Amino acid sequence: MIGTDIQKAAALLQAGEVIGMPTETVYGLAGNALNAQAVAKIFAIKKRPTFDPLIVHIFDLSQIELLSKSSLSESFYVLANRFWPGPLTLVVEKSDAVPDIVTSGLSTVGIRMPAHPMAQQLLRLCNLPLAAPSANPFGYISPVTAEHVARQLGDQVPYILDGGRCQIGLESTIVDCTVSPVRILRKGGISIDNISEALGYKPDVQTHSTDNPRAPGMLSSHYAPCKKLILTDKEEVFHRNIGREDTAFLLFTTPVLGHPEQRILSPNGSDAEAAANLFFYLRELDENPHIQLIIAQKAPEHGLGPAINDRLRRAATIVDCK
Ligand code: TXA
Ligand code: MG
Repeated sequence: MIGTDIQKAAALLQAGEVIGMPTETVYGLAGNALNAQAVAKIFAIKKRPTFDPLIVHIFDLSQIELLSKSSLSESFYVLANRFWPGPLTLVVEKSDAVPDIVTSGLSTVGIRMPAHPMAQQLLRLCNLPLAAPSANPFGYISPVTAEHVARQLGDQVPYILDGGRCQIGLESTIVDCTVSPVRILRKGGISIDNISEALGYKPDVQTHSTDNPRAPGMLSSHYAPCKKLILTDKEEVFHRNIGREDTAFLLFTTPVLGHPEQRILSPNGSDAEAAANLFFYLRELDENPHIQLIIAQKAPEHGLGPAINDRLRRAATIVDCK
């Protein structure tokens, strides 16, 4: 059931239930992070392998004391003060209060303070840290509306809190603050340029380690639509396919004249607007029975462009870039 009753959502969470919850990045599948049984339900509903740890959501920096070991690095505070609440997850050493199932046995925990006003109200009202992965079946495109959650997981959760369409549209950027200098584990809603500016240096990006992933959501098959997707930076690929009825184009800013089915991520070339439309359009095209093939254009590599391209690369069956 979809609704806007925050009290009801909070009561369900306090009772150990799992619900759909809006955030500014993507919708989450939330449960009490301190209740191992509630967390086990999240893994079961998502069909998520237990080696892939969850992010814990808070509404106030003081909650970090319960969740983390006491000594937090200066970089943690620099990034938290600058970007929280917002689309940034910070990995810190975990305390014993966080059940091992949340972190898949890791000694660290990812923490995020979401900016969505309904998420904040919910966290405040239930007064619990909430473990919440993206509310999609494991490996599929993250949901950016309550309806997306309902279509795939609606019969498995008692409630989906509807906070409208997610404004950022990409998952949070993940930064590992347990190492010095810090490392970026996932590109996301805050650009690397902005992180670098706050830190005063450009951190290493280590998003790919498929044998023993530190951010296993970064396995290369993640965010995959069911349809075949080609990611390309070559104009001729689009021109060759103009007029094909079963083929949709996902373009960054400029339409291709004469093609019937196309989506423009950002007509005025804004990386933030493109990010906000990415999963929405991918789902629309994936759910359209007339479309068999999606040809997606690589985004320019600045701002949120690298995070967009990262998701497109993972969604792609074929990457055809220079
Ligand atoms: O924007 C977001 O981060 C959304 C919203 C709901 O907050 N959540 C989200 O969660 O994207 P999920 O579970 O789909 O992705 C979390 C990623 C996974 O790739 C996981 O491996 C990584 O975070 N992660 C969680 N805890 C970690 C840790 N202690 N160390 C390294 N990576 C971790
Ligand atoms: Mg996810």
